[in-house]
Amino acid sequence: MKSKKKLLNLLTIEEKAALLEGIDSWNTNGIPRLGIPKLFLTDGPHGLRKVRSAGGGFAVSDNAHSTAFPTSVTVASSWNPEYAKRMGEAIAEECNAEEVDVLLAPGVNIKRSPLCGRNFEYYSEDPLVSGKFGTAFVQGVQSRGVGCSVKHFAANSNENFRFVGNSIVDERALREIYLRAFESVVKEAKPYTVMCSYNQLNGVFASQNKKLLSSILREEWGYEGVVLTDWGATCDRVEGVLAGCDLDMPGGVWHNRKTVIEAAKTGKLPMHKLDQAVERMLGLVEQCTSKKPKGGGYNPESHAQLSCEIAKDSAVLLKNDGTLPLSGKENLLVVGEMFEKMRYQGAGSSLINPPKVITPMNAFDERGVSYIYEKGFRCFYTERDTALEQAALNAAKQADTILFFGGLSDFEESEGFDREHMKLGANQTELLNALIATGKKVVLVLFAGAPVELPFFDKLSSMLNMYLPGMYGGEAAAALLYGEVTPSGKLAESWPMHNSSTSCYADYNRSANSNYYESIYVGYRFYDKAGTTLRFPFGYGLSYTSFQYSNLSFSQSGETITVKTDVTNIGGRSGSEVIQLYVKNNRGKVFKADKELRAFTKVFLTEGETKTVELTFNQSDLSYWNVKEQRWVLENGTYEIAVAASAADIRLNASITITGEKEAVSPYSADIMAAYDKPPLSIPSAFTDLVGYPLPVAVSKSKLTIESTLAEFKRTLMGRILYTGVMHVIQKDYKKAKAMPDSLERDTRMKNSHFVVKMMPYNSIRSMCMSSGGKFTYQTAIGFAELANGNLIKGLKPLLKREKPLPLPGEQ
Ligand code: BGC
Repeated sequence: MKSKKKLLNLLTIEEKAALLEGIDSWNTNGIPRLGIPKLFLTDGPHGLRKVRSAGGGFAVSDNAHSTAFPTSVTVASSWNPEYAKRMGEAIAEECNAEEVDVLLAPGVNIKRSPLCGRNFEYYSEDPLVSGKFGTAFVQGVQSRGVGCSVKHFAANSNENFRFVGNSIVDERALREIYLRAFESVVKEAKPYTVMCSYNQLNGVFASQNKKLLSSILREEWGYEGVVLTDWGATCDRVEGVLAGCDLDMPGGVWHNRKTVIEAAKTGKLPMHKLDQAVERMLGLVEQCTSKKPKGGGYNPESHAQLSCEIAKDSAVLLKNDGTLPLSGKENLLVVGEMFEKMRYQGAGSSLINPPKVITPMNAFDERGVSYIYEKGFRCFYTERDTALEQAALNAAKQADTILFFGGLSDFEESEGFDREHMKLGANQTELLNALIATGKKVVLVLFAGAPVELPFFDKLSSMLNMYLPGMYGGEAAAALLYGEVTPSGKLAESWPMHNSSTSCYADYNRSANSNYYESIYVGYRFYDKAGTTLRFPFGYGLSYTSFQYSNLSFSQSGETITVKTDVTNIGGRSGSEVIQLYVKNNRGKVFKADKELRAFTKVFLTEGETKTVELTFNQSDLSYWNVKEQRWVLENGTYEIAVAASAADIRLNASITITGEKEAVSPYSADIMAAYDKPPLSIPSAFTDLVGYPLPVAVSKSKLTIESTLAEFKRTLMGRILYTGVMHVIQKDYKKAKAMPDSLERDTRMKNSHFVVKMMPYNSIRSMCMSSGGKFTYQTAIGFAELANGNLIKGLKPLLKREKPLPLPGEQ
């Protein structure tokens, strides 16, 4: 390829506009006459999802075989970012084999609520954990010449309303919580691309948010790569290019290309702005084509084995009265259809089609374990089946130990929509209660991507949380249950008892306006200070052995603070321990969380062994973002270093004094300080001052526009016809899948169509047309909106006068 500067001189405006838009769902445009190749981009994050057919934006069923790794929530529970790196390397090998240029991964959004349907795809509620795992993943993938797209930038913490929602976040929370993981990934791993989110941030769509995409990302953090839209996230494409959004995906939206060409010709889009975006796209083409080895094979079984190793090291033992590990001598009853139909990944755009799955049943049978199995409940449904329940209860009479395989299904937890509550299906809770009432030992083995309520927890003997463990998750579960491996995962998120005790409960998914009124008090930062009783604290996890901490010391060299501590395995078997370092904040001029995670490490110890572990952090990590001075401020004072086994289990501490830092004036009024001294439990009036502008109120606009959601169209007769028409088509897919014979194929198809059925009502007409690959044009969308408003003539005009698609350069 010629140099970028040369190409810029040779490209026409039409060609430049074409380079900034995809050609279909997964390919960008190339310019053959100048030897500029197209690029292939695809999902991510827990494996390669290469759709076989061209498909639409949401085609998720017809995927080529690839390794289904444990999902991000699972990997983060290993507390070992090395796994994210190795997983990234392996996925990149698969990308190379399939000639994929950019993997749409990882997702480093912060878990604000346990209800977010996409939590399984994100690492943690804590930005340090998310940042470390995201960085390692990108480093792994890009070391093999494949680009990454760190996503979804930013403050995208809910799926309901995701296409139209507005995240209202104060700048300090943004800097310290929601942007921080992105900042470290961008600075340390230099992802080839960043994917902006669907939502608005403080009233401006992320895809055209200049402050986010240019001021912060590029000017402050020094990012030089490409920003691309999430699939269908473009609102005003010219505003997007002006704000620093380079590539519009998926492709085929010629309306956007046309507006870019027109704006470039009239000067509304200055040529140097267009050229900046094109230059970055050419840079991406260069990166992807110069470093990547083409083709190449990989060993699918060794990747599957890696997925299994990660799953073993990530599962979290949450309770154990000694029933685990199993000895093999138990009279074992296994209950729950998840035993034979394990849930190992999440639903939506990350859905992988692995060549093989090892369920717990496969793994038990492979070991020759003797057990009685009763389904007890069907895993795709939440309704009770009394016949299945009775059979399980009858079988319990013969058993001394009951293993219950339960969890959430893809119908309850998925990309595209959020959960409404944290409960497990009634079919599972009722049966669990009844089995517990038999007096037999009951062990719960859980498969879910996010916390669930556990009202029966006190009466369980043991509980092993597998999260979503990937294709060989059943093998990992069996190895852990039978003690071939010692559990060593810890939760990378707090587990509240109920949804009502979460930090954003008062305003989560109440309307399209999401008030992030809890500010910096997210996850343990909230629970710690609010004094909430939790089911399990952040960082919690048990082992079959136990560890003792001793000899804490620390030293400082320049900016770096090094903390050392001895950890001894004092239990009866080898195992790994996750050591966490929190720093308790001083009481300065601004409100702060009680303590924040500053470093972590994981160490393997044989029985009786002691190792000295080192944890380091930068003194500047203790700074807060001062909105008034627009800088990080480190307050002088005393901070406590706490070495801990979880956020609620501090083993050793020491204090450190910081002096000589430049003092800053508090940016906060007395009202803000009073409202945020403790985390607020509802939206305080001071939140307006904190965000710095009047809070938008959700008013139901009388006129329907292309920004209205499909569900809003139900308000008018014509709108209802449109709504019913669209829903009918996608519900038909669901019904067709449901009618198929029981098979993996049926499950996958049902999941995929269910995801679309649930998501579609929240989709705006604009976003639908942006992601339709040209099938639902911008003009048609405008026409429909007019018709729905009862404007027959205005509506029919664009529908009847079918605008001819703008040909691509070279097609004229
Ligand atoms: C998701 C992205 C994904 C893209 C392409 C979107 O709906 O939000 O995470 O990468 O689709 O499948």
